[in-house]
Amino acid sequence: MRAYVLLVASVAALGGLLFGYDTGVISGAILFISKDFDLPSRLQAFTISVVLLGCMLGAVLAGGAADRIGRRRTLLAAGIVFLVGALVSALAPNEMVLLAGRFIVGIGIGFSSVVAPLYISEVAPAPSRGALVSLYQFAITVGILAAYLVDYGFAGGGAWRWMLGLALVPSLVLVGGMLVMPESPRYLFKIGDAALARSGLDRIYDDRSASASEASSILESLRTKQAGFEAFAQPSLRLALFIGIALAVLQQITGINTVIYYGPQIFEMAGIASASASILAQTLVGAVNCGMTLIAIFFVDRVGRKPLLYAGLTGMFLALATMAYAFSKPHLSGALGSITLVSMMVFVGCFAFSLGPIVWLLISEIFPLPVRGLGMSIATLANWIGNFLVSQFFLTMIELLGRPATFGIYALLCIVTILFVRSMVPETKRELLEHIRVGTT
Ligand code: BGC
Repeated sequence: MRAYVLLVASVAALGGLLFGYDTGVISGAILFISKDFDLPSRLQAFTISVVLLGCMLGAVLAGGAADRIGRRRTLLAAGIVFLVGALVSALAPNEMVLLAGRFIVGIGIGFSSVVAPLYISEVAPAPSRGALVSLYQFAITVGILAAYLVDYGFAGGGAWRWMLGLALVPSLVLVGGMLVMPESPRYLFKIGDAALARSGLDRIYDDRSASASEASSILESLRTKQAGFEAFAQPSLRLALFIGIALAVLQQITGINTVIYYGPQIFEMAGIASASASILAQTLVGAVNCGMTLIAIFFVDRVGRKPLLYAGLTGMFLALATMAYAFSKPHLSGALGSITLVSMMVFVGCFAFSLGPIVWLLISEIFPLPVRGLGMSIATLANWIGNFLVSQFFLTMIELLGRPATFGIYALLCIVTILFVRSMVPETKRELLEHIRVGTT
């Protein structure tokens, strides 16, 4: 792979880093914000979830923007929004301004969750596209881990403004980087700038003939497909949209963010009593999440998307089923407590090399160029809605259904996901984007 391609993907992946950091940082900051602003619990919950509302709005706006003003400028805009959001929330004089700041940050996350994977998949050569888009998920996990560590570091002084404000650093690098990064050659072809598009492709590929054949496939794909919402009336595009939405929702409703957002509460259920032990355990979750994503980076273009999904989802199912069983026992002490903790790590680790990166990868691959921005926008919106529902209702589910049933439902949804992948999802390993077809599993 060319160093140039790796650089372009790494700069775009900063959008993922900010996604992870900004969603993770609030869990530690909220304790001190509540004290400073004297928040009732209802407002505390809203201070945590307002970011997800921003994510939904950002996801809605991003696809149209990426198709209209381009991938590069949309990611640049995401960087600017992140920057403004970090400043407003870190300097907020009162709760209202803080809520506005967190909403703005959410818009930045929504933008980058659509356009960063899309941009990376369009500048990546087909044989390493999986690894490069997985780099984006790796950056999300680094961001989450960094947020846990920063929260831990600043907790002594209760410095929540620093916790939220540190996001300025990667935002500045993202803005600076996107000012000099190239536009995606596919977007350039789409707007008719063939000369610039061809020179862009030549910088991606070592081999002129590979670049020329890719150019002709892209031009061909632009000739045959119509753009806009109406395009989704075509059966193959409707199917792509269905698969994209379903994958995005399944990524969430199999329960990953129960552990990412509510880890300490689950540790408590598993018998960890002290706050410092549960912070340590949560940091371990962050590290496992990060480390296991490397497996996807190394294998997703070698063994393919579907085998990794099967392996990861099977592990997730077993871990969740074990947790459901353990929680059905009256006391989780000794070996059973440890088994529960190990199961949580296995669950996160298996997600990290499968459903985490591969959903973002697949939804950036399955839509043809004329509707890629729009399709990704809709699928990503569905992902954020799923995220919102799970994170809002997790504690209520535990209360109403009990712990074994709650984790049992997530376990069953892993099986549903395996069946869905088997019957509906195409293997896209090493395929040129323009050759990917849904409906051919
Ligand atoms: C998901 C997030 C999740 C993160 C965990 C992402 O792929 O979209 O909801 O928090 O992975 O690493």
